[in-house]
Amino acid sequence: MLSRVARPTSCLLSRAFSTTLQTNSNVAVLGASGGIGQPLSLLLKMSPFVSRLNLYDIAHTPGVAADLSHISTKAQVKGFLGPEQLDDCLKGAEVVLIPAGVPRKPGMTRDDLFNTNASIVRDLVRACAKTCPKAMICVITNPVNSTVPIASEVMKEEGVYDPKRIFGVTTLDAVRASTFIAEAKDLHVKSVSLPIIGGHSGVTIVPLISQCTPPVSFPQDTREKLTVRIQNAGTEVVEAKAGAGSATLSMAYAAAKFAENLMEAMGGADNKVECAFVRSDVIDGVTYFANPLLLGENGVEQNLGAGKLIDYEKKLVDEAVGELKANIKKGEEFVTASKK
Ligand code: NAD
Ligand code: LMR
Repeated sequence: MLSRVARPTSCLLSRAFSTTLQTNSNVAVLGASGGIGQPLSLLLKMSPFVSRLNLYDIAHTPGVAADLSHISTKAQVKGFLGPEQLDDCLKGAEVVLIPAGVPRKPGMTRDDLFNTNASIVRDLVRACAKTCPKAMICVITNPVNSTVPIASEVMKEEGVYDPKRIFGVTTLDAVRASTFIAEAKDLHVKSVSLPIIGGHSGVTIVPLISQCTPPVSFPQDTREKLTVRIQNAGTEVVEAKAGAGSATLSMAYAAAKFAENLMEAMGGADNKVECAFVRSDVIDGVTYFANPLLLGENGVEQNLGAGKLIDYEKKLVDEAVGELKANIKKGEEFVTASKK
């Protein structure tokens, strides 16, 4: 159960993320043995907000769980292996993080992962619908622009859909943008934050540099270069890893940051704002969209919208809309087609 207790003073994560409240959440990671799953599980094991940490995968979870369980922090870790143990893993889960699925190799788009990852997300979310229908579902698996609509359609089919509780985790885009802008302006990175709106692939990633805190200004050509670097940062990592996968460590950091803010908001903390890809009516005709969200006890407390955009950013949103709509439709149609 979530509850308010005193804030510990000696926790790495609480210092790193400037947290203010401690909660006791039951968390499940699906895909826990993977490149993201393992470091994410480590960060969650170090979190003062996690009391139970259930790790599910189709491989290696007994070892990962045994290893993590020796760390002297409060979360009780248990491993679950294979589909027959999935329901047990999900019993009582309040937050479910899903990094299960294949990553990109050089030359691939995120959409190229659809054929493998769509059914993985569909089946995992169906298990969530049956066993922990009230849990916050945080989808990391790509292509996020399609896997979030898939998750939503499955919850609808199962009659337990709550759009406030389904998130596509886009935090890594904001983490990267803050890092790149801090470097460019010689600022302390912890003081820099900005919304990233749209979706999570190429041109659908729209950084709102005009809304950066602290305010920063760039000549237009520099602004454009920074924007393109933020949009292509995932590909930068895929190419550097040269066939060995995509971002894992920075993604684990980003997902843990998102999960900690969500858990704190669920425990009653005020002013927890994160961007995520959610069901939306912010842009006409675009049914899922990422932008700042005020998080609360029941997930999305308030969609804060995109705010005021400069003309360049409006143009970026226009460029994102076509791809976003196509990605969303593909996810929704996949679930409909699976029924037949
Ligand atoms: P990985 O291959 O290292 O790990 C994936 C894990 O999923 C493996 O342990 C595998 O056994 C497991 N898995 C596969 N099928 C499963 C199933 N049916 N049930 C449970 N587990 C299953 O990949 P990774 O580097 O951890 O990346 C995982 C996903 O996250 C990819 O789709 C990648 O594109 C995505 N990703 C998203 C973001 C983001 O910002 N949202 C960032 C980085 C990566
Ligand atoms: C990222 O942004 O790093 C992820 O979406 C993984 C990828 O394929 O780029």
